[in-house]
Amino acid sequence: MSACPTLVTDRLILRPFTESDLDAYFEVMTTPEVRSSLQVPEMFAPVNAWMGMAAWLGQWELRGSGQWALEERSSGRMVGRAGLNRPPWPDWPGLEVGWALHPECWGLGYATEAGARAIDFAFEALGADEVVSVILAENERSQKVARRLGFELADERTRSFFLDLPHGIWKLPRIRWGQSVDPLGTAGTELVPVSAGGALRRPGPPHR
Ligand SMILES: CC(C)(COP(=O)(O)OP(=O)(O)OC[C@H]1O[C@@H](n2cnc3c(N)ncnc32)[C@H](O)[C@@H]1OP(=O)(O)O)[C@@H](O)C(=O)NCCC(=O)NCCS
Repeated sequence: MSACPTLVTDRLILRPFTESDLDAYFEVMTTPEVRSSLQVPEMFAPVNAWMGMAAWLGQWELRGSGQWALEERSSGRMVGRAGLNRPPWPDWPGLEVGWALHPECWGLGYATEAGARAIDFAFEALGADEVVSVILAENERSQKVARRLGFELADERTRSFFLDLPHGIWKLPRIRWGQSVDPLGTAGTELVPVSAGGALRRPGPPHR
């Protein structure tokens, strides 16, 4: 049995990667849009996608954190990955929440939905005090997801772990968990993550 739990949100299943995800995951990682955002090298081959999936499963085993494969509930299609990451780089800033989706699924709120569930997992199941997101300065779409989820930019510089480019360290401390998330940019309307399902709803009485 995998150390990676399976979680369900309104529209997604967050589950361990399986061997049968390889073609779909390779396709996600080599679409021009994802390639460019993540600086995926030209030589990236199916074996690299396979090793990536294995590394996520391995991190779950070794550290109890990792990214999930995202399955669209309505279609059963594997549409990308999202979740947690804490590799042992000396200057890695903490428990990271990240996301990558097939461009055909951009603009649907899937990254925000999966990100909200991953954040709930980090605070509830892992007892984190803070989560971070490491985002290249030019990656505006990813920054928008982070903002929707309540992250704030804390620092921006080049570090040892990823490329020779400045990236932002976005932070969400436990104390701000669940406050003022606005996934659709609806001015003046506060929406909050629902810890049970990772979906987003307008708030009733405070739930945490
Ligand atoms: C980063 C990435 C995951 C963002 O995807 P995204 O589709 O923009 O983000 P979401 O899934 O949260 O969707 C948000 C959009 O869906 C819309 N939306 C529709 N229904 C929604 C809902 N129910 N909830 C939230 N947003 C919804 C939002 O208005 C927003 O629209 P906008 O693009 O016009 O601002 C995607 O661009 C990606 O995979 N990039 C390549 C990999 C990458 O860069 N990863 C991050 C590395 S740091």
